[in-house]
Amino acid sequence: MKVYFVGAGPGDPELITVRGRRLLEEADVVIYADSLIHPGILGYVREGAEIHGSSSMRLQELVDLMAEACAAGKMVVRLVSGDPSLYSAVNEQTSLLERKGISCEIVPGVSSFSAAAASLGVELTCPEVSQAVVLARAEGRTPLPEGARLADVLHPSATAAVFLSAGLGEELLREFLATGFPERTPAAAVYRASWESERRLETRLELLPERLAREGMHHQTLILVGEVLGRERREGKRSRLYGG
Ligand SMILES: C[S@@+](CC[C@H](N)C(=O)[O-])C[C@H]1O[C@@H](n2cnc3c(N)ncnc32)[C@H](O)[C@@H]1O
Repeated sequence: MKVYFVGAGPGDPELITVRGRRLLEEADVVIYADSLIHPGILGYVREGAEIHGSSSMRLQELVDLMAEACAAGKMVVRLVSGDPSLYSAVNEQTSLLERKGISCEIVPGVSSFSAAAASLGVELTCPEVSQAVVLARAEGRTPLPEGARLADVLHPSATAAVFLSAGLGEELLREFLATGFPERTPAAAVYRASWESERRLETRLELLPERLAREGMHHQTLILVGEVLGRERREGKRSRLYGG
């Protein structure tokens, strides 16, 4: 018995992996994060398969549903947004399933931070500018571990990709400034990257809270901050990959 945790990608139904799509086509039961997953992805599910939205389910209910379907010999796909390895609450589901003797397989997906970078047309690492990317979030409903506040993990030499935090603009600004990011650091936000309804803004760190509020970007928004977002900083910087 096995449950497949499949990364659906950021939105655009063409951004799921070939493997993820095949599993969806074969599944008897699909449970998906209905608030974050593009409805077009469900077009891959075969007619007659059961489809459940998970946004109103509690953890135990979700796990029981998957376990019972498995026990009945059904093939179960748990579809999560972006890549399952990031902010997907996958650990708590797989550990409860494994306790019931059900094994889990994770199929990776395109994360929203990759889709946001693609939409902005930037590479997040650039020679002489940034060679690291920090994936982080501000403190929200899920508390951050001791010593792992944004200001503890960000660094001005690294590009920051911030999830789940667009509604916390002022707090974000405080944390970035406390870490030593200059106020004028380029910053961008992408709402629903790769969806038809995608919107993006490009600004400076000091203006980010105001711009997020003005554009009404609170949810499903990925924030990128770093020198690498400034076109003039990237100009002429070459890696050694191609010589010269
Ligand atoms: C519960 S987390 C899931 C992250 C997901 N596992 C990933 O790899 O993108 C949800 C957060 O991811 C970001 N997010 C997910 N999909 C997005 C999209 N299409 N565009 C922009 N941000 C997105 C937002 O920051 C949102 O608050």
